[in-house]
Amino acid sequence: MPADSFYSLQDKVAIITGAARGIGAAIAERLLRAGARVVFADIDEREAQRTVAELEAGGKRSLVVAVDVTQRVQTEAMARQVVERFGTIDILVNNAGIAGPNKPLVEVSEEEWDGVCDINLKGVFLCCQAVLPVMLKNRYGRIVNIASIAGKEGNPNLTPYSATKAGVICLTKALAKEVCTQGIYVNCLTPAVIETPILKQVTQQQIDYMTSRIPMGRVGKPAEVAALVHFLASDDCSFTNGACVDISGGRATY
Ligand SMILES: NC(=O)c1ccc[n+]([C@@H]2O[C@H](COP(=O)([O-])OP(=O)(O)OC[C@H]3O[C@@H](n4cnc5c(N)ncnc54)[C@H](O)[C@@H]3O)[C@@H](O)[C@H]2O)c1
Repeated sequence: MPADSFYSLQDKVAIITGAARGIGAAIAERLLRAGARVVFADIDEREAQRTVAELEAGGKRSLVVAVDVTQRVQTEAMARQVVERFGTIDILVNNAGIAGPNKPLVEVSEEEWDGVCDINLKGVFLCCQAVLPVMLKNRYGRIVNIASIAGKEGNPNLTPYSATKAGVICLTKALAKEVCTQGIYVNCLTPAVIETPILKQVTQQQIDYMTSRIPMGRVGKPAEVAALVHFLASDDCSFTNGACVDISGGRATY
């Protein structure tokens, strides 16, 4: 591989859920700069349009798709729309997610529990199912799931969130074993606190607790997560499969 094509995503087609802002927008920017055609798949279409306008004036290599990842009809329509526009799907980054209720488990309602599970876990399942027929046909694919350090260690007062992220880690490992002989590699990341609008969903006390557990003594930046996704989405990721890669400033050490 020539040095100038290390990590190149030239002409690859990447769907990023939750790309309107935060970590998803940073991943979209990074993959665009690496040459990919990028689908900004988000429930907030207006914010996704605004982000595309900022990142890629003209937007020729970008496509905004309004999608609620909890709705099968919409995830299937998303996959069809992407194939119609770009001809294929090479990369899926399952990034859309919410923090959910930030309170003791005894106070969490059944509706709140279901809501977090639907977006954070079922959404990953539905998006994988929507794109896999294309990837299996091509015998090529890279799927990157954004889990969380909460899914490895558990954060108090974020039990539904922590449980769904543990689910994403194991979905990653199981699916990775299923499809890797067909050229599709599936990996996930476990970020610690990253500075994005999701932090508005939790209390300052919760943020302070989570940040205090990071040995590097600071929160992470969306671009730092995007750099790791870039590798996992590329052809250079050729022997990493079913991995759960930490990006936690040293909070998780194994
Ligand atoms: N920021 C952190 O500290 C942190 C840490 C670990 C893991 N993560 C994970 O990273 C991912 C991105 O988080 P973020 O911090 O950028 O959050 P964010 O709130 O800034 O962005 C989330 C995006 O997802 C979209 N979204 C929400 N529900 C959706 C749905 N049903 N269908 C489609 N899109 C939907 C939102 O519109 C938004 O654009 C999440 O899965 C989150 O759990 C974040």
